[in-house]
Amino acid sequence: MSIFKDGFLEGRVALVTGGGSGIGAGIAKRLAAQGAKVALLGRRPEALAEVAGEIRKAGGTAIETPTDVREYADVEKAVERTAAELGGLHILVNSAAGNFIAPAAQLSANGFKAVIGIDLLGTFNACRAAFSHLAKEGGNIVSISAPQAFKPTPAQSHVGAAKAGIEMLMKDLALEWGPAGIRVNTVVPGPTADTEGMRRLAPADPETQKKMQRAVPLGRWGKIDEVADAVLFLVSPAASYVTATTLVVDGGASLISSTGIVDP
Ligand code: COA
Repeated sequence: MSIFKDGFLEGRVALVTGGGSGIGAGIAKRLAAQGAKVALLGRRPEALAEVAGEIRKAGGTAIETPTDVREYADVEKAVERTAAELGGLHILVNSAAGNFIAPAAQLSANGFKAVIGIDLLGTFNACRAAFSHLAKEGGNIVSISAPQAFKPTPAQSHVGAAKAGIEMLMKDLALEWGPAGIRVNTVVPGPTADTEGMRRLAPADPETQKKMQRAVPLGRWGKIDEVADAVLFLVSPAASYVTATTLVVDGGASLISSTGIVDP
């Protein structure tokens, strides 16, 4: 069941970075199901093609723009192609992210730079390249952060620094770009089932996973669709006076441990 009027995003164009898998793919499908034309940006063409194919099969419109978010010139080309082919750009979702478990004392400077580059620089690149289009008719930016941004987490210093940077960047852009009619918000998914992040961070043992799920105040991992619904809310008229906010969608998990996934 949806709280949104069916097709409320008809006539809108959305670009989703990291749209080839996991949370980004789920958000892209949800936006398309509400009528948005969607551009999927990511590094793996085959992953983008699969998600775009699913959207088109369901009657939606999707294009693939294979790009590394770290390369500004390429991101700009992807944004311009999206606006030219789909008719403008109204919604930007920054979901591209990199993660691996590495204690800071063993992490190379290049490893730190890789995650800052994908998460933080990539988010800036997409926002900067999209600005002039988003400012035309009033636009929305939603960036996907993580609990590591506000809960120090072992072996996640690179992710915490990158995501905290994203959250502050969103607030700065909300301040600067509000007068241009652009709302800028952040969504923080907690432990979310069927995502690359969980495959990388959660313990493999099913019993340990069950125990960790029971410790979450809402008693389970989240679903990708629940994160996508938070994004839908933020880009909808229901959130027309909401900007610079951080919406945590984690079942209360970050109240009880570092991230709810990686335990000390
Ligand atoms: N532990 C420690 N360091 C690691 C690492 C790991 N598991 N994986 C990569 N690195 C380091 C590399 O060693 C390299 O540093 P070096 O040159 O000093 O050796 C640096 O990171 C860059 O590695 P590279 O393989 O070139 O990275 P990339 O830029 O192609 O890929 C990653 C970026 C590393 C973040 C990669 O894991 C990725 O693309 N992930 C995307 C999917 C993902 O993580 N999704 C989950 C989101 S929550």
